[in-house]
Amino acid sequence: MTSSDKLNVVTICGSLRRDSYNRALMRALPALAPAHLAFTEAPSYAGLPLYDSDLQKTAGFPPEATAWADAIRAADAVIVVTPEYNWSIPGPLKNAIDWVSRMTDQPFKGKPVAIQSASTGLLGGGRVQQHLRVCLTGVDAVVFGRPEVFVTFAAQKFDANGELKDEPTRDMIRQHLASFAAFAAKVAGKA
Ligand SMILES: Cc1cc2nc3c(=O)[nH]c(=O)nc-3n(C[C@H](O)[C@H](O)[C@H](O)COP(=O)(O)O)c2cc1C
Repeated sequence: MTSSDKLNVVTICGSLRRDSYNRALMRALPALAPAHLAFTEAPSYAGLPLYDSDLQKTAGFPPEATAWADAIRAADAVIVVTPEYNWSIPGPLKNAIDWVSRMTDQPFKGKPVAIQSASTGLLGGGRVQQHLRVCLTGVDAVVFGRPEVFVTFAAQKFDANGELKDEPTRDMIRQHLASFAAFAAKVAGKA
């Protein structure tokens, strides 16, 4: 792969909260990534109804699920930046994955995916990452391993404007994105 080969990355935030630390982390990624990565945020999945196969049978896939799946399909790679809720995956994010998992042209199939997490606590989302790995492997994504990004004690790492100021955290993300870029290019057949 040459540095001029763009790698299109779609980002997904696991928090719906307006002042989310994970959203702030997601916004910090382009400045910390190799120049050939082009970032687009996936459309919102906030309006999705709770998955119900009866609803799917009677009404089909909601437009939000179709738009979300299309954005994932169109990308070379995916980065999910998510909080941990009660040691696991936030319900809205899991619900969105459940919706698209029922599509014939399942968007995560063969897709390189990286996970990052920010939490106000000590572990930085260590448990959600493990659970999300299992879930994404279950939809045939190719999940990136290491280096990992855990933003611990997030309230201390971002300033009042949601800017990521902590230099060791910025370095951790740079290393993660550089390694993921190489991994994703191989998986996407762009290496
Ligand atoms: C319902 C709920 C459950 C939570 N569970 C955890 C948890 O299991 N582990 C953790 O580290 N933080 C947990 N937290 C705290 C989150 O790390 C914190 O609220 C964080 O700011 C959420 O991410 P966000 O800022 O991107 O919305 C929980 C928060 C909520 C609202």
